[in-house]
Amino acid sequence: MAKRVGILTGGGDCPGLNAVIRAVTRRSLQRGAEVVGIREGWRGLVEGRFQPLGPREISGILPRGGTILGTSRTNPYKQEGDVDRVLEHFRSEGLEALVAIGGEDTLGVAARLHAEQDFPVVGVPKTIDNDLSATDYTFGFDTAVWIATEAIDRLHTTAEAHNRVMVVEVMGRHTGWIAVMSGIAGGADVILIPEHPVTVEAACADIQRRHDRGKDFSIVVVSEGYELTYESGERHGFVQEAATDQFGHVRLGGVGDALAHEIVQRTGYETRVTVLGHVQRGGSPTPRDRVLATRYGLEAADLVDAGRFGQMAALHGDDIVAVPLQDAVAEPKTVPPAWYDVAKAFFG
Ligand code: F6P
Repeated sequence: MAKRVGILTGGGDCPGLNAVIRAVTRRSLQRGAEVVGIREGWRGLVEGRFQPLGPREISGILPRGGTILGTSRTNPYKQEGDVDRVLEHFRSEGLEALVAIGGEDTLGVAARLHAEQDFPVVGVPKTIDNDLSATDYTFGFDTAVWIATEAIDRLHTTAEAHNRVMVVEVMGRHTGWIAVMSGIAGGADVILIPEHPVTVEAACADIQRRHDRGKDFSIVVVSEGYELTYESGERHGFVQEAATDQFGHVRLGGVGDALAHEIVQRTGYETRVTVLGHVQRGGSPTPRDRVLATRYGLEAADLVDAGRFGQMAALHGDDIVAVPLQDAVAEPKTVPPAWYDVAKAFFG
């Protein structure tokens, strides 16, 4: 059993991180281990920045958004010598196990460290995007969907009052999970996602058909990763910033405005755009995310206790199970056609 356990949170924050930190810490302390927080993801291990985690530090954090440990998109495989620094600081701090809470990037580093250095790490799947494989759901996703759904509900009433088309741009990177789930829940009339690119012409025809039926407003949910796709085969993606982060990601954004322009040009309907942005990642987790994050945290502590490194806590159906980290990061989990069919049943 590891006597000193480290915890880090990496990548974009999301609601529920503190609930995981609390659960890992509670269970590890009960087992007689010491728990050490690592500041700002992998950067904290590169630079050797730590903070003790005890009952006082985790008190009251369950409903709090963000992360008490801070986070970063630091990739130790990007900078010569950083992996050695990670290993050295881990050793000199007397750590015997690490719980890494993160998405594809943070857990990708964990999987590689485990494979190449036999590093004693277990993972917890975090991201509002829900794009990690080997688990049914990541924590944080339910809260993001809830926030986006609430926004769609609010946009419905103002759309109706003004006879407008409302375009809502949501996050999700290269997958459309947030768009599909919030769009279905909010009763969107068109939902556009990267995995199943409906054309601009077809989307405008759906809006037109709806208005021909006597409806004088429409809600269009578009995922930031959707590329404007035309019948000609032409496609345009949108980025806010072309420079990549240390994991090679550009910052997406802007498709909502371009789509609205197309809708106005093709249908003549007055159209407005709402970009939800980081609101989707902020604030308190939903009860479902608090419970999921708590269960993940307990499982991670149990995996550490059992010395089952290289594994990640995952949700299969209603059960929390352990899966190889490698399986989680091998490829992104995209929205399957069956889910998109549910959305499409309500288009137009
Ligand atoms: O991965 C989570 C996420 O919120 C994506 O949906 C989004 O594309 C990205 O992070 C935004 O990153 P940043 O917080 O660096 O702007």
